[in-house]
Amino acid sequence: MNEWEKELMGLCEIYKDYFPIGAAVSARRIKRYESLLKKHFNSVTPENALKMINVYKGPDKYNFEEMDQIVRFANDNNMLLRGHVLIWYSQVAESFFENDNGEMVSREMLLTRMKEYIRKVVGRYKKDIYCWDVVNEAIDDNDNIYLRDTQWKKIIGDDYIEQAFLIAHEMAPEASLFYNDYNYVIKNKREKIYKLIKSLKGRDIPIHGIGIQGHWGLYYPDVTEIKRTLELFADLDLKIQLTEMDMSMFEWGDNRRDMKQPSGEMLKIQAEKYGKIFEILREYAEVISGVTFWGVADDYTWLDDFPVEGRKDWPLLFDSELKPKPSLDAITRFSSIR
Ligand code: GLA
Repeated sequence: MNEWEKELMGLCEIYKDYFPIGAAVSARRIKRYESLLKKHFNSVTPENALKMINVYKGPDKYNFEEMDQIVRFANDNNMLLRGHVLIWYSQVAESFFENDNGEMVSREMLLTRMKEYIRKVVGRYKKDIYCWDVVNEAIDDNDNIYLRDTQWKKIIGDDYIEQAFLIAHEMAPEASLFYNDYNYVIKNKREKIYKLIKSLKGRDIPIHGIGIQGHWGLYYPDVTEIKRTLELFADLDLKIQLTEMDMSMFEWGDNRRDMKQPSGEMLKIQAEKYGKIFEILREYAEVISGVTFWGVADDYTWLDDFPVEGRKDWPLLFDSELKPKPSLDAITRFSSIR
């Protein structure tokens, strides 16, 4: 196949012997991105539509409106659909942890509510969603602390994690169940995550994969740490997915707000780094079952408000006019036959 033919092909087609290529979407933006999504992606993840804060409006009051639209789009276009996310400490409904008097609920009560929530959400999309981020970000960033001190852990105890996996499995025995987190590139954190996953597997808890978020940057992390991470987890007999990939143009602590466009140099470094990362991902294609970007094009990214509010960033493969960036080119330059 020559370069000219490749240009006509979608990214997911070029990667079809390796892994599905996904994007996080909102129902509102699907229209704008429709042709890009159809051409280049064969998997989608709801960016926010399935987060508890958007779904749970009180006992027996669930809002599935946005998610249903995303499901329709994925089904109409034969795309895989990832379920993000069931149990997380952030973007939760505070009322979930309180009784009518505003007091903290008991362990039994929270377990009952958690099970009910997972049953409702997983049950509803059982036919549509093939894999779930069951628990997100349960490991602490601090070296001396193992599990993050969340409402879930405080009220239920450390076993909230396995309870969540067990109930999700009961509702959707066919679905792949994932643990999702960030900073695997830091040795100490990835070892703690490894310990958690090994312990769940050792006790026959139904966990089938780990999600590496992959919110990275031009200068950090070093790609060797990405390789080390894949190496460590590859022998666990689990699937690995890159679940939220993007690449900020800014170094942590660089709080400049004056850039209107990325410089040519930035675009070049980004392309080289995406190229290197995808080379590593292809090497591990045997264990990688999906690579999802946290967005579609640079006109909209959560990084426009993180870590610096209102500062434009350009972390994705397509620019603000939805045109391919050098980064797209960089990850398609390889022989696509495995
Ligand atoms: C975490 C979550 C995602 C998203 C990003 C930032 O990685 O898993 O759902 O909220 O933060 O957008």
